[in-house]
Amino acid sequence: MIDLRSDVMTLPSEGMLHAMTTAQVGDEQRREDPTVLALEDDLTGLLGQEAAVFVPSATMANQIATLCQVARGQEIVGERHSHMFRYEAGGPAFLAGAVVTGLAGSAGVFTGDQVRDVAQIRDSEHRPRTALALVENTHNASGGRVWPLEALDGLYDTCAELGLAVHIDGARLFNAAAALDVPPARITERARTVAVCFSKGLGCPAGAALVGRSDVLAPARRIRQMLGGSLRQAGVLAGAARYALRHNLTRLADDHGHARTLAGLLAEAGLPVDPAQVETNFVLLDLASLGLDRDTALARLRSHGVLWSNAHHPTVVRAVTHLGHSVVDVHNAASRTVQALTTG
Ligand SMILES: Cc1ncc(COP(=O)(O)O)c(C=O)c1O
Repeated sequence: MIDLRSDVMTLPSEGMLHAMTTAQVGDEQRREDPTVLALEDDLTGLLGQEAAVFVPSATMANQIATLCQVARGQEIVGERHSHMFRYEAGGPAFLAGAVVTGLAGSAGVFTGDQVRDVAQIRDSEHRPRTALALVENTHNASGGRVWPLEALDGLYDTCAELGLAVHIDGARLFNAAAALDVPPARITERARTVAVCFSKGLGCPAGAALVGRSDVLAPARRIRQMLGGSLRQAGVLAGAARYALRHNLTRLADDHGHARTLAGLLAEAGLPVDPAQVETNFVLLDLASLGLDRDTALARLRSHGVLWSNAHHPTVVRAVTHLGHSVVDVHNAASRTVQALTTG
């Protein structure tokens, strides 16, 4: 079976497991885990920020970012299909009491003018005060799309002018940096906070971090404690993350190449895939023109030995490439997909 459902399916390699079992550890709640401290240091350098907090998941990093920056009744503005708005179980409302305002985006990207149109930056007796702009990069629901640097710079400029903080949900930030061929800091240094994740394309079993300005992150460890996310000998996981930063960052470009190959083979075979939209490791296939519903398509794919998953749009299925796939897997996945969807 070739599993293309998600890059969260990545398994730790032997090298990573070795790094985990040999990591120096201590009580991270007391700030005595040297591997976590070293990882946090790596991250501030890599992202051009001042402070970092290791957390179990990217969802927790996003929620702590909200709790650090958004008071009850304040507003977060972001693209309407953002993971934080749609797939974090209502966390911004439940935990922070935040109002979320979803903007219509194009490939996950929105403009400073759209923010300017809705942002309420002065106190008003009627309208929620806007506290945060959310950028998801890469953008999951649109198929791993990357914010072009010009669009991002424009948003930073407008937010700076409006006095608004920007949070980057960078669960796949390193894919964005690889696709743009820029250092990650080029994307993140003007953000106030950034969430990054190690358990997707980077191949770790768990772990994420919230990185940002130290004054903004001052309450972050206390909030992490409140959410039950303070670990003890977390160096076992931080060791995996440090290994991933050393060994698995530059190879993300291979996953992107594999996704382009897959999309190209499927498009050549006449399937409704647009290779021009493949910017990172996601391939979207719209079933509408095939007259197949999603459950039938996914079941047929499974019976041909390849797993795709639901995408955000109701007629679209998704394949995600990652370090567990070889070139041969990609070619086999393409032929199995063509067979499953064209011959039934
Ligand atoms: C854009 C984005 N943000 C955050 C997350 C949350 O990651 P986790 O499931 O590790 O909490 C995901 C997970 O897929 C994601 O795609």
